[in-house]
Amino acid sequence: MVRYLTGFQPTGALHVGNYFGALRPAIELQEKGEAFYFIADFHALTSVRDPAVLREHVRGVAIDSLACGLDPAKACFFRQSDVPAVTELTWILSTVTPMGLLERSHSYKDKISHGITPSHALFAYPVLMAADILLYESDVVPVGKDQKQHLEITRDLAIKFNEVYGEVFKLPEPSIRDDVATILGLDGQKMSKSYGNTIELFLPEKILRKKIMSIITDSTPVEAPKDPTNSAIISLYKLLAAPELVTTMENEFQAGGIGYGEFKKRLFEAIWEGFAPMRQRRAELEADPGYVDQVLAHGASRAQAVAQQTMAKVRRAVGLT
Ligand code: TRP
Repeated sequence: MVRYLTGFQPTGALHVGNYFGALRPAIELQEKGEAFYFIADFHALTSVRDPAVLREHVRGVAIDSLACGLDPAKACFFRQSDVPAVTELTWILSTVTPMGLLERSHSYKDKISHGITPSHALFAYPVLMAADILLYESDVVPVGKDQKQHLEITRDLAIKFNEVYGEVFKLPEPSIRDDVATILGLDGQKMSKSYGNTIELFLPEKILRKKIMSIITDSTPVEAPKDPTNSAIISLYKLLAAPELVTTMENEFQAGGIGYGEFKKRLFEAIWEGFAPMRQRRAELEADPGYVDQVLAHGASRAQAVAQQTMAKVRRAVGLT
């Protein structure tokens, strides 16, 4: 059975981009193999400094993932820090990590250029990620394009370790989602928390409506034909509405006579209706925190069992026995 592993960073509320870009594809894969999915709270410590906020985000990711269909009977779903052996493996891997490899990290340079304070943890972020992947003997790691280099680093470290100490690690295969179309945010750029253009999925109705109505459009007058090809409204509508409805909207764009406000209302309805079952499930989960804790505890014990086996091999290989 193929083992899929991926991590979700608990850095804020689930938005349309996260859902269609990462969460839904991961949920689909839980049917196809053995899924190991975790909440990367050790990684989040590199950017979240408030303990209450971190706790809230971790809980949020857990609830959102379960509400959207992550099934703990199929996937092993756990919190990264519940298996502290991952930090031990990080240390051991760091002894075979060339400085130059980390110095070339795009994501490190990118984060610093966005004003995040450079810390050792931020620099070592890819080593912790390699430890996540190698600890659970993952076969396939589904991630977005931005994580490609991290997977290359992971493979490099596994190869290096195996050269020095003998065959211990299985080499993971990346699975880069470049087939998922870029999801546009409120301003028409790629939807991303760092651009401040996200549409969070589980906002209260009024606030969500207001957000959708704030999508930036050009100043084409109501009567005039509009260009459907570069429209954030249409590209978001496509994610949710039936193809016939999308075609209708595209035709109406081109025909003119309908203003952007009307199209935005339709988009709002599609999101609101489309996520109604998840919203319902989410409310139930929020009312039952004990269940969420139990799911994570169960996931942690499964993950620990795998981690223990890998760590026994690693310790023996390096001479820590
Ligand atoms: N760095 C990943 C992200 O920001 C999250 C992550 C942490 C991860 N560890 C991982 C993804 C291991 C895949 C495998 O999206």
